Amino acid sequence: MIREVTTKTPEIILALDVDNREQAQKILQATGERLEWVKVGLQSYLRDGPDLIHSIVDSGKKVFLDLKLHDIPNTMAKAMESLVRLPIGMLTLHANAGEEALQRCARLGKEIMPDTLLLAVTVLTSMDQQALHSIGVKSPVIEQVERLARVAVKSEIGGVVCSPQELIHLRSCLPPVTRLITPGIRPTGSAMGDQKRIMTPSLAMDAGADYLVIGRPILEAENPAAALSNILGELDQ
Ligand code: C5P
Repeated sequence: MIREVTTKTPEIILALDVDNREQAQKILQATGERLEWVKVGLQSYLRDGPDLIHSIVDSGKKVFLDLKLHDIPNTMAKAMESLVRLPIGMLTLHANAGEEALQRCARLGKEIMPDTLLLAVTVLTSMDQQALHSIGVKSPVIEQVERLARVAVKSEIGGVVCSPQELIHLRSCLPPVTRLITPGIRPTGSAMGDQKRIMTPSLAMDAGADYLVIGRPILEAENPAAALSNILGELDQ
């Protein structure tokens, strides 16, 4: 199915990958009300747990819980059951877990957490072609991303996490309702860090992203509020 590339402004999701609760508090205060979404990943969730999720939601924001579940189908389903009381808007699973696991999670999600958008992570944005080859995947990155995305869509997972470099291709081959979420966002001049498949916020918007996940370019900026403003300004232009 072909879909026209949209230039709708994507929402920014702040990746709250910080060393302690105080830093989390500080960065959330600095970025203020201009952010609707906060992504809590392994670093923060394993340290601060459900309490952090509740406090973010109590402050009026939505939480994307990025646990990237990847296990046998039964264990993934049971992990979802353990999260059922948390007010989470999005939750990630690894598409590599395969169709049976994704289908089971999708079915369970509809039943026990109908308001949570399940996302399947395709090829991590920190991996390039060489990294993929080194784990035995011989396909070009784009083919592997498409393969995993198709498994996710077939399993009725609502969204896919990919690098911005695959957005245009995925938009052209996935159903229009599939949400596309992309990390690997680097405003001009920001350090790449460990990310490999990157793009600027405005190019990712033009390529059709629904959500941009941004961490270090905001977290490590001298002035995080200004860094966020610059990104929002770039998207508005
Ligand atoms: O700091 P940076 O902007 O690189 O943060 C990107 C965030 O997105 C991190 O929290 C990382 O765990 C997450 N992520 C990613 N690549 C994926 C899926 C999630 O970088 N494929």
